[in-house]
Amino acid sequence: MIALSTITLLSVLCTAVDAFSVPNVNATFSKSPKPFEIRVDRNFIEDTRLRVAHARAPVFMGAIGEGPSPENYTNVRDYWVNEYDWNTTESSINRKLKQFTTVVAPIIGNSSNPVPLHFVHHRSSRDDAIPLLFIHGWPGSFLEVSNIIDDLTNPPNRSVPAFHVVAPSIPGFGFSPAPQRPGFGPVETSHAFNALMNQLGYQKYVIQGGDFGGVILRFQAHLFPKNVVSVLSNFWIIQPGENDIRRLAEGLSTPDEVAYINILETYINQASGYRVMQETQPLTAAFAMSDSPLGYAMWIFALMNEVIDPTVKSWTPEEIITWSMMYYIQGPYGGMRFYKEVANDGALEAADFGTLPLVEVPAAISQFPYDITYRMPLEWAKRGGNVIRRNVHSHGGHFAAYEVPHLLLQDIWDWFGDEETSGTKAFIN
Ligand SMILES: *[C@@H]1O[C@H](CO)[C@@H](O)[C@H](O)[C@H]1NC(C)=O
Ligand SMILES: *[C@@H]1O[C@H](CO)[C@@H](O)[C@H](O)[C@H]1NC(C)=O
Ligand SMILES: *[C@@H]1O[C@H](CO)[C@@H](O)[C@H](O)[C@H]1NC(C)=O
Ligand SMILES: *[C@@H]1O[C@H](CO)[C@@H](O)[C@H](O)[C@H]1NC(C)=O
Ligand SMILES: *[C@@H]1O[C@H](CO)[C@@H](O)[C@H](O)[C@H]1NC(C)=O
Repeated sequence: MIALSTITLLSVLCTAVDAFSVPNVNATFSKSPKPFEIRVDRNFIEDTRLRVAHARAPVFMGAIGEGPSPENYTNVRDYWVNEYDWNTTESSINRKLKQFTTVVAPIIGNSSNPVPLHFVHHRSSRDDAIPLLFIHGWPGSFLEVSNIIDDLTNPPNRSVPAFHVVAPSIPGFGFSPAPQRPGFGPVETSHAFNALMNQLGYQKYVIQGGDFGGVILRFQAHLFPKNVVSVLSNFWIIQPGENDIRRLAEGLSTPDEVAYINILETYINQASGYRVMQETQPLTAAFAMSDSPLGYAMWIFALMNEVIDPTVKSWTPEEIITWSMMYYIQGPYGGMRFYKEVANDGALEAADFGTLPLVEVPAAISQFPYDITYRMPLEWAKRGGNVIRRNVHSHGGHFAAYEVPHLLLQDIWDWFGDEETSGTKAFIN
């Protein structure tokens, strides 16, 4: 009897481990890529709308700079309750982006744990196309690739490079299920994404990323220098050191150094509260965020709004809701607590940024005025690795691929099109 129930229990456990799922989504994951279309349970969509309809607002007291404005709150609430049409959103994402699910099993140390992934994959028809891994960040998702993907796979002419584009969801974001236990951070993500590229037949590839994408690419390029040929980051962060701060105090810093330190200090002191919470007590926040779609939308909108260029873009209620849904559908806890894992892997230290692994392969960086890496000098960037080129723009912000796609595209074409400097001559047969 005992033996039999033990066997039954074991087989139940094994099935449970193998059967990955995403809450509220019709998704299956198997050992090789399968086409995927987003299909969210309509009862969940209606439950979400009702929660928004019943949301309770804070009693506002006219303070500014403490979060989104009361107007933002009512705009998003009213749009969500009366106009937001998930059916249209879902079908337009499915139409625009070819998505897949798979399971990869990277070997880390002596063990191999299966990792279920959701990803976008568009192949170019150009015979000389370069495989490009696009990695999104917080509080974004794979949707960040939407505005550049067509020009990457199908550029206007042969004088600029073409790419096979792979844009996965970090586990816990979008439709990649959250890890089932703690311990899955940027190191594990980079192992999983390298395994994904290999599974798709791309032994060598380049990476582009901002925010967490810019963090993960540094781990991935460091860990897999034979696979990652070259990188372009629009979030190459270097925390100023003691010597930099002393030079600032002594008035010895260059104008770029002063500007960068000020931007970083302003972010850390005035706009990073969400981050410290997610790094330390993500579950405390996740109880409220899982329960309140509107509260969660305001939680991410606070940052979304802080880091875009208002002369280029303003967020619509539709975008704010859809971006928050990319977390809310599966439940936001997994994505939120990624900060804790990033801190565990050393890339964040309380309110500061930590030390990232050295990138030995050729790297380029792009900086946009409303992002927090703006004006960081090239000499500082080189502390993080082999950074060869720095593009400084006069427009745009943190979500460059989405916000100023034409500017980022030009940087991607220029950098990876420079075969000698970027190393992409490795792709020429
Ligand atoms: C769920 O997806 C499978 C294939 O991935 C499909 O056959 C099935 O019809 C879908 N179910 C619903 C309710 O959409
Ligand atoms: C958010 O509030 C600001 C200031 O009131 C306003 O300029 C902006 O248009 C609002 N955005 C939305 C989506 O409500
Ligand atoms: C959305 O789709 C569901 C089922 O697919 C349908 O029941 C519902 O009426 C649709 N909603 C709208 C607003 O079209
Ligand atoms: C892998 O296993 C070998 C043999 O059991 C052991 O010596 C080694 O330390 C292990 N490596 C890691 C990274 O755990
Ligand atoms: C090819 O396209 C790029 C990007 O749009 C453009 O800058 C370049 O002038 C074009 N070259 C030719 C020869 O048309």
